This record gives sequence, C-alpha cells and structure tokens, in this order.
Amino acid sequence: MSKGYKIAALAGDGIGPEVMREAIKVLRAVEKKFGFQCEVTEAPVGWAGIDAAGDALPAATLDLCKQSDAILFGSVGLPDRDPTVPKDKRPERAALLRLRKEFNLFANLRPVKLLAALQHVCPLRPERLTGGVDILVVRELTAGLYFGQPKHTEEVVEAPEGAAHPTRYLRATDTMTITTPEIERIAETAFQAARARRKKVTNIDKANVLETGILWRDVVAKVGKNYPDVALENMFVDNAAMQLVLRPAQFDVMLCENTFGDILSDEAAALGGSLGMLPSASLGKTNGDKVFGLYEPAGGTAPDIAGKNLANPIAQILSLALLLRHSFGQEAAAVAVEQAVAKAIDSGLRTGDICSPSETNIRKVGTTEMGNAIAAAMA
Ligand code: IPM
Ligand code: MG
Repeated sequence: MSKGYKIAALAGDGIGPEVMREAIKVLRAVEKKFGFQCEVTEAPVGWAGIDAAGDALPAATLDLCKQSDAILFGSVGLPDRDPTVPKDKRPERAALLRLRKEFNLFANLRPVKLLAALQHVCPLRPERLTGGVDILVVRELTAGLYFGQPKHTEEVVEAPEGAAHPTRYLRATDTMTITTPEIERIAETAFQAARARRKKVTNIDKANVLETGILWRDVVAKVGKNYPDVALENMFVDNAAMQLVLRPAQFDVMLCENTFGDILSDEAAALGGSLGMLPSASLGKTNGDKVFGLYEPAGGTAPDIAGKNLANPIAQILSLALLLRHSFGQEAAAVAVEQAVAKAIDSGLRTGDICSPSETNIRKVGTTEMGNAIAAAMA
C-alpha cells in the first residue's frame, strides 16, 4: 500500500545543498524499494533565507514546516557574513534555534557508532577501542544555557573614587536555567532509548558546582526509579569529556544538558570517525505513534569545502534514516538506509574526512559519488 508523507527539505548554507541532494537521491531509492511516496518541498533557510526573503527563517519556510510531517534540515551559518546583520538575526539563532523552540523539539538524539571498517580513522589507539564505540547522546535542546534569560551584553560604567575618568567595559550574560518538567521529559527519553539498547544511562552534569546540576541529578534519579531495568550512573561533565577518550565502551546512553550535549556530541563524533558521519534527530512530544521532528547532520556548514564536491553526505543520509524511523515509523526503510551506508563504506569508498593514508584498498570519492553508491546499495 502506498502512503504519502510530506517532507520539508531545508538545505541551508555551505555544504547543506550538496549533501541534501544526496539524501534526497537516497530517499528516492527508498521509495522505490518500500513502496511509499514522499512529497519533498524545498525551501530556503539560513543565509539562503536572508538572501531570498530577508529573513533566516522566512514566513513561507516556517509555514511549509508546519504543513509537513517532518523537516529534513541541512545546516546554517556562515561566520564570515555574521558582521553584516544584528546577532539575533543570524541563522543559528534566528532559524535553527527558533525552529527547535517553535516546534518544541526538546529531545535531541545523536547516535555515534564506529563502523568496523572505519577503525583506522578513529583518533584513539586500538587498545582504547576494546568494546567498540556505540553511544547515543541524548541532548536537551530547548532549555539550559542556550535559552535561559537574561541573555544580553551591557555596558558597565564604573567611577572609582578619585579617578579622573570613569572606566567603561562590556559585560555579557548567559543564563543556565532548567525546570523539573524539562528534566523529566528528557530523562524519560533517555531511559526509554536505553531500554532499546544496552540498558545503561550515564547522566552527565555539573552537580558539584551548578544549581541546575543539583536539580538535574535529583530529577533524573527520580525518573530512573521507574526504570529498574536500566542502570543509572552519574558523571561530572569534565570527567565525561575525559572518559570518552579513555574508555568509550563504558557509554551507552549519555544524558546531557543542552550545552554539555553540544560539546560532548562533537567529541563523540570524532570517535565515530568524523563529524561528517553524525546524524541527529530533534523530536517533540509523541502524538499517538507519530512524532514530528527535525533531522540534521550535527556537523555544520563547513564553508571551506562548500561547493567543491568534497563534503561527506553520510550524516545527512543517516539523518534521513532517523526521519524514516522516528517520524514515519518506517523502521525497515531506516535500517535499509543504514545498511546501504555501511555497504558503501565496506566497499572501500571514502570521502576525504574518513580517508586514512594507512588504509589500503580504499578509494577517495566526492559527495556525489558517495551518494550514488549509497543509493545504488539500496536497490
Ligand atoms: C549543533 C550545532 C548548533 C548548536 C549550532 C549551529 C547553533 O553546533 O547542532 O550541535 O549549537 O546547537
Ligand atoms: Mg554542535
């Protein structure tokens, strides 16, 4: 039976458009194989949105997202252009963070897996890789340090007694805030995810210093009581950063505040071979068996290699797999995409970021060739 789904495809800036093209190519192969159809509508976002409609998230793009079942997102942000617009209009805040907030996408899932064929590209020595790398970073995405108020920069004027002139300087403030319900729902996500994996949650916080950390740890422990089958371990974030490179196999699900998850997921991605391999799913509340989500590679726009057919499209393609799994409930299709990626890698194809000089029997390819190979492996 054929089933129609609506996808908003927002490619964005930098390498966004070229990796998006490959993901859509793979989607077309999925449709053929699994007998369902997707209506894919592209719309500008980020600097592309500013250029097309004067806004990083044009109204028409937001409307399209509201009418869609899921968003497949590329990446936004070109730091060189930042000085040309006020900071709250820049793509990261005005488009990406806004979309996350608008759709209440509080749960960010970032699965990191080091494929056997990519052991050479992992920066860790082989003896540290015993047990492999298979980690799910669960990052809170709509609260914490990213969104807490106040958030501003102000001028401070000090007039010390006896001084001829007052001293002026700037003070920037960000605020880390988190509430009990915000911690509860992301903790639920982590424990549920752990149930489907190796049944371990490592809760990451800074409860030795931060108020938010103390509440976070407390609430996670309470939620954990409802999951007696899942082991819960607490770890300070600084130690977690170190443990990741010492013994990554100890981690199954890592549960993190927004900023901590941002940092640790990049570190974890390096263990999986490259940031170019890391997909992500940003999910809201489940509605029946449906969940609306935004799916994006975690790696960013990589302006230095944009438009050169050098980017690794795999993070975008694996993000498509997450979309099929979480928003469309098409588990078999999701697995097929993941297997097609593994097949292309196993066959020796490598984009520059996952190409190690110590490996033989590999072939360095561009974005398009990698996409073609993965789409072909779907057949
Ligand atoms: C990520 C990115 C974003 C973030 C940037 C582009 C705003 O680094 O998704 O990890 O900080 O969340
Ligand atoms: Mg990041």
